[in-house]
Amino acid sequence: MIKLNKVTEDEDTFTIAVAGKGGTGKTTISGLIIRELVERQAGSVLAIDADPNANLNELLGFDVDGTIGELEAEVLRENQDIPPGMTKKRWMELHLQQILSEGKGKDLLVMGRGEGPNCYCAVNNILREYLNNLARNYDFLVMDNEAGMEHLSRRTTAGIDTLLIASDSNPIAVKSARRIAELVDELDIEVGKKYLVLNRTEGDLPDKTEKKVDELDLELLGEVPRDENVRDLCWEGKPIDLLDPNSPALKSVRKMVDDLVSYSVTISPVKSE
Ligand SMILES: Nc1ncnc2c1ncn2[C@@H]1O[C@H](COP(=O)(O)OP(=O)(O)OP(=O)(O)O)[C@@H](O)[C@H]1O
Ligand SMILES: [Mg+2]
Repeated sequence: MIKLNKVTEDEDTFTIAVAGKGGTGKTTISGLIIRELVERQAGSVLAIDADPNANLNELLGFDVDGTIGELEAEVLRENQDIPPGMTKKRWMELHLQQILSEGKGKDLLVMGRGEGPNCYCAVNNILREYLNNLARNYDFLVMDNEAGMEHLSRRTTAGIDTLLIASDSNPIAVKSARRIAELVDELDIEVGKKYLVLNRTEGDLPDKTEKKVDELDLELLGEVPRDENVRDLCWEGKPIDLLDPNSPALKSVRKMVDDLVSYSVTISPVKSE
């Protein structure tokens, strides 16, 4: 039985969102977490690629049949392809089901490019309702966000239990992690706990980086070392499932998942003679 360090009150889904400056490793970290959750059969996983330049699908080994952004564009188009008599809501719901990629232990939904402020009301409400209902079917939701966090700002997803802010060990990047944390606070989304994750680290952290990390009001969940297996996998366009199980990056993400998801062991009572 799994006991979760759950902090938001919503449903039973444990939501992990990964944010951070461009190129800091959000997609890689999301992919590694998803692989780990699936491998340890922690529960069903819904992956959400909330980056318009979606590439989480490649890392997870999914072909994508469409994005939410494409559906929005269709609904907002003047001469829509929506059959007469069918409401936009119904049409959207039908197509949302079709663009959900289904896999072993994990499914994927790709947000794609958003349609700007026009889309923020009616379509956003349909999306919010659909996503919240969909999320209830899963034990975990792992969301790979774009640097600008447009998806989070549209608040189509309910609360986030754990927000991981990725940074590399460059002190300037660490400083920008603070700005991201502040931005999330301003968005007025319910966030349980925020952590910093340092990616592509090499040996001990430089003093300057340590100092910046200490100054942040963020707990350091862990460090993911620079790992050439990860780099090669990405260059070869191979899915994360093919990553060597002994890869240093995967090993460190395993520890982080241990900290986020703790197992409670049921001890059978000792029988008396
Ligand atoms: N720990 C690591 N070791 C080696 N290479 C890594 C590591 N983490 C990420 N990379 C590589 O760094 C590059 C950027 O990583 P990734 O795409 O995960 O970043 P991102 O934050 O999602 O980028 P973007 O902002 O463009 O979405 C990729 O080529 C990836 O393979
Ligand atoms: Mg990315």
